[in-house]
Amino acid sequence: MKFFLDTANIEDIKKANDLGLLDGVTTNPSLINKEGRDFEEVIKDIANTIKGPVSAEVTTYDYESMVEEARKLAKWADNVVVKIPMTRDGLKAINTLSKENIKTNCTLIFSVAQGLLAAKAGATYISPFIGRIDDMGEDGIRLIEDLKDVMVNYGFDTEIIAASIRTNKHLELSALAGADIATIPANIFEKLYSHPLTDKGIEGFKKDWEKFTGK
Ligand code: E4P
Repeated sequence: MKFFLDTANIEDIKKANDLGLLDGVTTNPSLINKEGRDFEEVIKDIANTIKGPVSAEVTTYDYESMVEEARKLAKWADNVVVKIPMTRDGLKAINTLSKENIKTNCTLIFSVAQGLLAAKAGATYISPFIGRIDDMGEDGIRLIEDLKDVMVNYGFDTEIIAASIRTNKHLELSALAGADIATIPANIFEKLYSHPLTDKGIEGFKKDWEKFTGK
């Protein structure tokens, strides 16, 4: 499973990258807004910091403008992937961009049909938002499982990014459901390696070693 960080914060990206487990980054207009920096500057900064794909989202919503904006974003760095929202115009844009070899991440996926259409349009990635589905009282992980079945049934190359991850459990269940990638907020990423019993175990070993060595 590949790990992406779901943030536009360069310090968080550098910290996660330092662990050696980071495969990519996803951003969206809300995450860019949080940083209060120029969009192009932030994306170029991230794209220079990590080798893997960096999703930058279009901020226009009609077909012509999305394609034009996507072509511009794709030129910012070789590893930029253009995030396109799941709409009728978005699907048409993904289709056009895939023919130009511009990589796309179809975002805001909430149903199997949406994921299937995006894959058929040629999306490199699809991003089902599991946390937001759970917020509606539905089952976000079930959507990952179903999308995985569809991708396997028809041999699509499109990779599934489990997005809108809120808890460690979301990551674990996404992995079990076969998501190719999880895009993880920085606060969750830094919690993944911790467990109270690990800390307790280390404390016990330290104490016993002190007794053994007499130090
Ligand atoms: C995915 O690429 C999105 O940036 C993200 O996962 C949205 O998550 P949220 O529901 O926490 O805003």
